[in-house]
Amino acid sequence: MKVAILGTGSVGSALGIRWGDAGHSVVFGSRSPQGENVKQLVARCGGRAVACSLREAIPGADAIVIAVPWGAARETLSHLGDLTGRTLIDCTNPLLADLSGIELGHSTSAGEQIATWAAGANVVKAFNSASAKVMFNPQFGEHRATMFYCGDDAAAKLVVRQLIEDIGFDPVDAGPLTSSRYLEPLAMLYIHLAFRQGFGGNCAFKIMKR
Ligand SMILES: NC(=O)c1ccc[n+]([C@@H]2O[C@H](COP(=O)([O-])OP(=O)(O)OC[C@H]3O[C@@H](n4cnc5c(N)ncnc54)[C@H](OP(=O)(O)O)[C@@H]3O)[C@@H](O)[C@H]2O)c1
Repeated sequence: MKVAILGTGSVGSALGIRWGDAGHSVVFGSRSPQGENVKQLVARCGGRAVACSLREAIPGADAIVIAVPWGAARETLSHLGDLTGRTLIDCTNPLLADLSGIELGHSTSAGEQIATWAAGANVVKAFNSASAKVMFNPQFGEHRATMFYCGDDAAAKLVVRQLIEDIGFDPVDAGPLTSSRYLEPLAMLYIHLAFRQGFGGNCAFKIMKR
C-alpha cells in the first residue's frame, strides 16, 4: 500500500518506519520536508519513503494518517484539498496542554470532529491508544498488544485493520466512529498509567476473550 503520513513526530516516525519495514511505501507530509530530522527519518525507512509538503503527500495514497497534535489537526487538514472517499486515519487525542485530561468527550470526540473538518473522508480512529514506543514493537512475550479502531466505512476499516496487523498489533474493531468517544478517554487512561502511575511507555492494553 501507499500510506501518506502527515506529521513526522513520535507517532508519524514510528508508523512510517514500521510500515516501511513491512513493505509499504510511505510518503511523509511535513511542514518542513527538507529539514534534517525529516531527512534522517526518511533514511531510516529503508528506501521506501519520501517526504514532501502536506498537500503533495496525498495523491494516490491508499490511506492518509493524521499524526499531528490535536491543536494542529484542523489547520493540517485545511492544506489537503478534497478528501472525499479517502481513508483518513485519525491518531489524535484531544489532550489538554498539560496532559491532565481531554477537552472533548461524552457527546463528541476528536474523531468525529475531524470527520466534519475532512468532509467526505472515511475517517477511522486508530493508533491513539498505545504509545509510539509500543508502535515500534507491539509484541509482549507471546501476546500482541491490542489496537482498537473504529469508523463508519467498512472498506476503509478493512484497510486500517490490515495496516494495524502489518505492524504486529492485534486489531480490535470497536464499532462506529462514535466509539472514538470511548477510545480517546482510553488513551487518557493510558497516559495516566504511563506517566502518573509509573507504568512508563512500554505497556499496552490487551483484550482477552473466551
Ligand atoms: N506520542 C505518543 O505516544 C502518541 C500515541 C498515540 C497517539 N498520539 C497522538 O498522535 C498525535 C501525534 O503525536 P506525536 O507524539 O507524534 O506528536 P509530536 O511528536 O509532537 O509530532 C507531531 C508532528 O506533527 C507535525 N505538526 C504539524 N503542525 C504542528 C504544530 N502546530 N505543532 C507541532 N507539530 C506539528 C510535526 O511534523 P512536521 O514538523 O513534519 O510537520 C510534528 O513532528 C497527537 O495527536 C497525539 O495525541 C501520540
